[in-house]
Amino acid sequence: MKMNYDLTKYPKLLLKLSKKYGTPLYIYNFNKIEKQYVTMLNSFNGIKNLIINYACKANTNLNILKLLQKLGSGLDAVSIQEIEIALKAKFNPKKIIFTPNCVSINEIKNAVKLGVRINIDNLSILEQFCELYPDYPIGIRINPHIMAGGNKNISVGHIDSKFGISYYQVPHIKRIIKNNRINVEGFHIHTGSDIYNIKSFLKGIKILFKTAKDFPDLDYINMGSGFRVAYKKEDIKKTDIYPLSKIITNKFNKFCEIYGNNVTLIFEPGKFLVSESGYFLVNVNVIKQTISTVFAGINSGFNHFIRPMFYNAYHSIENISNPNGLQRLYTVVGYICESDTFGLNRKISEIHEGDLLCIKNAGAYCFSMSSNYNSRYRPSEVMIINGKDFLIRKRETMNDILKNIVEISV
Ligand SMILES: Cc1ncc(COP(=O)(O)O)c(C=O)c1O
Repeated sequence: MKMNYDLTKYPKLLLKLSKKYGTPLYIYNFNKIEKQYVTMLNSFNGIKNLIINYACKANTNLNILKLLQKLGSGLDAVSIQEIEIALKAKFNPKKIIFTPNCVSINEIKNAVKLGVRINIDNLSILEQFCELYPDYPIGIRINPHIMAGGNKNISVGHIDSKFGISYYQVPHIKRIIKNNRINVEGFHIHTGSDIYNIKSFLKGIKILFKTAKDFPDLDYINMGSGFRVAYKKEDIKKTDIYPLSKIITNKFNKFCEIYGNNVTLIFEPGKFLVSESGYFLVNVNVIKQTISTVFAGINSGFNHFIRPMFYNAYHSIENISNPNGLQRLYTVVGYICESDTFGLNRKISEIHEGDLLCIKNAGAYCFSMSSNYNSRYRPSEVMIINGKDFLIRKRETMNDILKNIVEISV
């Protein structure tokens, strides 16, 4: 029987997994990741040369990388460590684009040693790179001066952002390239995450075309990502990938015709591929009734799941132990000694102490942003593939907390 992609349709399964592995627990449904990958490929099937590079900062579990590599995905990496994980997952270095920001030239040198493609976002680094590696093709990240994205922390393409080389500095780029006879193989933009207004993507591609037309030997144009997924039932604030892909395909193919070459179009989705595949299971430690609020206090906090607190992100919360109970208002909070609210005044089926709650859209920027704050262990991770569960990361222990401590005797 084909499973529904939404695992909250299977409360018994989630309860069973919570008992088997304990909570807090991350669960990823690989079939959903695969579906998203195929949706992306199909939406842009009018493009002759298309590459999807998974932005692995969203979730770097080695097993997710290995499975995406098998599907044919390339990879977007932002640190030397992400490159190392990707190589361990058997990505061909030429399918990895390294797009760092404010890293040292030494980190970029190490990436060159590993043979990956380099994407530069700073004029000073561009000059140093040209001196060091006149024969190494490079990509250039342009700052298109577009304000987009669901939150100021994830709006990265505007004029005051630290990312990319300003669109107005393209003449400067040209000068450096000409003086050093460097081969620019691609141009890249990424304006932010959680973008549902397709106009932002269209503004971005226009700037890429304008920049690219003066560079005759390009291999690719990289549109970055920012596709917003649904965070609630009937969420209208998601990127409508089908109309967007039609418009982009049309514009891109016209550009290739004028340019005289079928350059590759690259996307580097993180959230689109993995967000909805993920579920975060927690148990309710306490119900705390105050004069204004009913709190449900769970066995987790922003140490495990920081998006609601850091980005004011909305994540649906369901009571798996009592899915059909009477709906009541709860404020779901963590156990960290700071305010860590997962959901404010949410309508959730009646909660009792000990109940299992599921926080949805937990596949992207959740585990990968977790920490040991309050000396708590990071949770385990489980992958579901065709209904079968696999432990893909063990829960931490005190040994993990203490292993790098050097005890001194004073
Ligand atoms: C350069 C770059 N590309 C791609 C992404 C992935 O974005 P998203 O998760 O919105 O798809 C990011 C996210 O921060 C990024 O910085």
